[in-house]
Amino acid sequence: MRRILVTGALGQIGSELVPALRQRWGADAVVASDIRVPAGGAPEEGPFAVLDVTNLRQLQDLVRRHDVGTIYHLAALLSATAEERPHVAWELNMGGLYKILEVARENRCALFHPSSIAAFGPGTPRVGTPQETVQRPNTIYGVTKVSGELLCDYYAKRFGLDVRGLRFPGLISSVAPPGGGTTDYAVAIFYDALRHGRYECFLGPDTRLDMMYMPDAIRATVELMAADPARLRHRNAFNVAAVNVTPDELGAEIRRHLPGFELTYDVDPVRQAIADSWPQSLDDSAARQEWGWQPRFDLAAMTADMLAKLRLKLRLPA
Ligand code: SER
Repeated sequence: MRRILVTGALGQIGSELVPALRQRWGADAVVASDIRVPAGGAPEEGPFAVLDVTNLRQLQDLVRRHDVGTIYHLAALLSATAEERPHVAWELNMGGLYKILEVARENRCALFHPSSIAAFGPGTPRVGTPQETVQRPNTIYGVTKVSGELLCDYYAKRFGLDVRGLRFPGLISSVAPPGGGTTDYAVAIFYDALRHGRYECFLGPDTRLDMMYMPDAIRATVELMAADPARLRHRNAFNVAAVNVTPDELGAEIRRHLPGFELTYDVDPVRQAIADSWPQSLDDSAARQEWGWQPRFDLAAMTADMLAKLRLKLRLPA
């Protein structure tokens, strides 16, 4: 079997996707790559390479050297960081994707590329956002996501590339720390609840967004890539959803486990404006029909599991 390459392997999704792929295909079959080596040195669980995805020659060499047949391209800036550095965001999110697509075309690789609820904008219907609808985002992150969706569709149609993708909602992980996303309040809140018994939220109490627990996101990714292509009408950028929640509601759920938990608000206007430009809930019926998408974690199950995992990670008593 040709190998799998994961870019951005040390990031939010990669930190959990790499172990899942290695469990399924074997450690040696998955080459993890990132622009940096982690603090403790290169991980020893399997092959690791330092890769700048905007460097075409480095990318080409890596794909050929390891006989890569499938790429999970996760290297990107998230929304809030991208808004602070829009030029870097374009260069990395779009420049990187273009080079990945070219290398995938030349080496006949299958490709997974994540999109986001950020690919929608203020003109999109906000409740039950359909699979196909207005996409006029007003953030640079969203612009790179919608452009990326279109470019992936173009490569599929023009060059027959097997490229697939999901529009992820906010992702909540017990492994990767919060990293520059607008939805990251829903990760930080768990750490602060356990460590300090309180959290000051940068989004307002009623900001309703779709979220998903990372084990569901990883399963969605693996299932989409394994799906029968004959059944896929969309292929690239399926809406997927799992948990629909506001900060206030998430706080109340955490309080069921930690009764003294205090939630206060200090709204950051930049991230609030980003959140307000995104859908409140996605219609993911295309994913359900075409490849059988079904979330396993609801708000209660996700909250209980996050608290249990973080207690272990932070060495706190159960
Ligand atoms: N969770 C991402 C962010 O907030 C959206 O894709 O940037």
